[in-house]
Amino acid sequence: MNAVEIEEAVASLAVQPFDSAEFPFLFLAAFGNKETTLRRLRKGDSNASDILNGVLQRNNIHIAVCQPGEVPATLKLLRESPRTTQAKAKFLLATDGEMLEAEDLACGEQIACDYSNFPDHFGFFLPLAGISTIREIKDNPIDVRATGRLNKLYVELLRENPDWAKDDRRPDMNHFMARLVFCFFAEDTDIFDGTGLFTSAVETMTERDGSNTHSVLATIFHAMNIKHEGRAAAKLPRWAAEFPYVNGGLFGGATAVPRFTRTARAYLYQAGQLNWREINPDIFGSMIQAVADDEDRAALGMHYTSVPNILKVLNPLFLDELRSQLEAAGDNKIKLLNLRKRMSRIRVFDPACGSGNFLVIAYKHMRAIEAEINRRRGEIEQRTEIPLTNFRGIELRDFPAEIARLALIIAEFQSDVLYRGQKEALAEVLPLDAMNWITCGNALRLDWLSMCPPTGTGVKLLADNLFGTPLNQTEIDFENEGGETYLCGNPPYVGSSMQSTSQKGDLEELFAPVLSSWKNLDYIAGWFFKAAEYAGAVRSDFAFVSTNSICQGQQVPLLWPLMFERGIHIHFAHTSFKWSNLAKSNAGVTVVVIGGTTEIRSSASLFSVDGDGAPTKRSVPRINAYLVPGADVIVTPQGKAPDARGLMLKGNMPSDGGHLVLSTAERREMIAAHPDAKQYVYGYCGSHELIHGDFRYCLWILDEEAKQASVTRAIRMRLEGVQEFRANAKALTTQPYSAFPHRFRQIQNVANNYSIVIPRHSSENREYLPVGILSADYIISDAALVMYDAPLWNMALIASRIHLVWIATVCGQLETRFRYSNTLGWNTFPIPLLTEQNRAELTACAEDILLAREVHFPATIADLYDPGTMPENLRHAHARNDEVLERIYIGRRFKNDTERLEKLFDLYTKMTVGQPKSNKGSKPK
Ligand SMILES: C[S@@+](CC[C@H](N)C(=O)[O-])C[C@H]1O[C@@H](n2cnc3c(N)ncnc32)[C@H](O)[C@@H]1O
Repeated sequence: MNAVEIEEAVASLAVQPFDSAEFPFLFLAAFGNKETTLRRLRKGDSNASDILNGVLQRNNIHIAVCQPGEVPATLKLLRESPRTTQAKAKFLLATDGEMLEAEDLACGEQIACDYSNFPDHFGFFLPLAGISTIREIKDNPIDVRATGRLNKLYVELLRENPDWAKDDRRPDMNHFMARLVFCFFAEDTDIFDGTGLFTSAVETMTERDGSNTHSVLATIFHAMNIKHEGRAAAKLPRWAAEFPYVNGGLFGGATAVPRFTRTARAYLYQAGQLNWREINPDIFGSMIQAVADDEDRAALGMHYTSVPNILKVLNPLFLDELRSQLEAAGDNKIKLLNLRKRMSRIRVFDPACGSGNFLVIAYKHMRAIEAEINRRRGEIEQRTEIPLTNFRGIELRDFPAEIARLALIIAEFQSDVLYRGQKEALAEVLPLDAMNWITCGNALRLDWLSMCPPTGTGVKLLADNLFGTPLNQTEIDFENEGGETYLCGNPPYVGSSMQSTSQKGDLEELFAPVLSSWKNLDYIAGWFFKAAEYAGAVRSDFAFVSTNSICQGQQVPLLWPLMFERGIHIHFAHTSFKWSNLAKSNAGVTVVVIGGTTEIRSSASLFSVDGDGAPTKRSVPRINAYLVPGADVIVTPQGKAPDARGLMLKGNMPSDGGHLVLSTAERREMIAAHPDAKQYVYGYCGSHELIHGDFRYCLWILDEEAKQASVTRAIRMRLEGVQEFRANAKALTTQPYSAFPHRFRQIQNVANNYSIVIPRHSSENREYLPVGILSADYIISDAALVMYDAPLWNMALIASRIHLVWIATVCGQLETRFRYSNTLGWNTFPIPLLTEQNRAELTACAEDILLAREVHFPATIADLYDPGTMPENLRHAHARNDEVLERIYIGRRFKNDTERLEKLFDLYTKMTVGQPKSNKGSKPK
């Protein structure tokens, strides 16, 4: 269940007559528990409660229904029940049907409310459905509710008006929904005279069956497009004439309204019943985007970007600086005035603005600073000097773009109410400004310089107008020339293999002239590149949220040389953190924030979240493209290692259509039938086999053995299979190998004594990279990398924490898994000069790791390295290995991974000094 569905279920439970016996089960059902689970609880099989009328669901909640007036005592009973602890309950809940009290045992937070109001606290209980909650939702669930109501209405209207679901009518549908949102907000905030003007017009003027709802709404919308002076001539019906002139583009143009059913009318009415005054324009906008998107609707109410995360972008980008200027100004009126003037000229531009949450938050925080200035200057009634139209955005989809503008209008009104008072706010809100400053279009195709030009140059908008005015609309210049420009946002991340043809086309147009391997770039690279080009023309700083992959692995040598060539420095960054939303288990993507500037600054700020979640800020001279303090080095693949470390190769590639590879059963059968075949059958190991101990077998036949081996029918048939597969292979280069079906397609090497095997891909959850030793009886496949007969101290290096950190950073990840590369990760790995003594010690460490694993035979690497259950002796052997190795690096253990990376990049910079600067992908024209 998503958050919206849960809210609906909880709301409907609260209005049902209270049934003390059924309540616990109905409550659990509202949070997504299946009927089978509830049946078992009802029967008592899984009910761990020791309290009368109690229901205790393990690892979840302990609920008790009690006699009237006994709620506090019952909650105490639940808290003190030994079963609560034993069953690891996370929540307690007691109710008598009149009152309800609950406690979150993890943080100690409690709620107490009338039973009928408990849906107001549904956010408090969301962890019961595996959904992490966010403060704003816990405290104020209105945004989720409004999203739910609008969604029902949207779906019902599309069902009744299928032509409005088609591409050419969707913008009309979305525009209609934006109008409704405005009306709901306006009637609850006195923007419309009287309370509930819109909803009561719906209630009184429309038929219950919905049949005339569309015409009533069309009349209302029409009224809101007629100025005061035109009212008499327009002959509006009396009830419609009560609606003020609003237009601002929102109510201009066609007044078409979809047809309503009885149900749609009911949903409209229910949506109007909510108190829209409390809407958070930042949260609500993000959430309702999904309403208009058939694919996103399943995750309704989940896509909400938390305000603290948005501030990770905006604070270091410019808000912190404004605040410190405010602090420094104290009560000095001139300084305060200068700061106010400075803010009035600031432009904020989000070129992937969605429903405008970054712009809204930036605006609201600037208004807070301005209000403080006005307070200190004794001018609290002062009209704001921060123009809403200086907050610009580009958004591809029309609905979020519509909502972005509305969200800003709502934010302006709410800020006016907060800082200047309701009366002043109301006096200025209508009519809405007809200008449109959110552009609906493709940011990678639009010219940012035309849309947000250097100060002093007029704006030339190239895209379609948002609210229906013609394309050749009046161009809107920024107010208050001469200010700073800040670019911000959370542009879309789409990996190279997931991009649509048109997205590929966007990247091609941007990058093909400057980069040969542009096809491997993530889609978000387009925003970084355009921001860099823009910063070259307009003095501006930018900061974007991005997947961390843009600072790891292959993306770095592709994108960052281009950025550096354009004079960009990273002046602040947040290292990886989870981008939270309301998704189940809050499994948001891991992201970074990167702030760029062309200005040379004496220091940069590096933010990170440490193990216990506390943020830290460090001031460092420079931040490199891997978000590590240090010079702008780019790690590029090296064909050869610079020292005597083992030669690491890819394993052998069969390209055999599976015919050379045998399962255990196939091997057994073949050898039972043809004992002679045994000499050609070897163990076969790639990443999966090494990690899970799930070994297979393969035929490994030397050229001189080929003839003899083919005498065996089972082998001959397999070789024929290989021959056919290769002869018909799609890759033309594979076809000639059909002449040698007994051989793997690419043979790197085989071991004399043993192989050190390293999987190419492995889980990011392990504390150490998997590495193993196999005897010469195993052929290593190309799913793994391998060092043949290399000294064992090489294994100690690979099994170290510092090596994992290097690989995670420079090789990057495949989805979230580590991706190991010999040329990029091993050959570049900075290793201090190792003495004989060092090597001997490391060899002993590797042996200890192998022995520690041996004790747990037949546990596999997957078993042994499960972070939750890693055996103590193995953990100890690794800790010892890290201790020995890290002493070689710096004479002590590193304090953390950041320190490890700093040391590695420092060594890497020294190691590569004098080497030509590589920006391999780059192709200057
Ligand atoms: C990750 S969302 C961020 C939106 C918003 N800031 C938030 O946090 O919810 C990225 C936004 O970029 C928009 N988008 C995708 N491709 C775009 C393009 N080529 N041009 C402009 N916007 C685009 C998407 O529609 C989406 O609204």
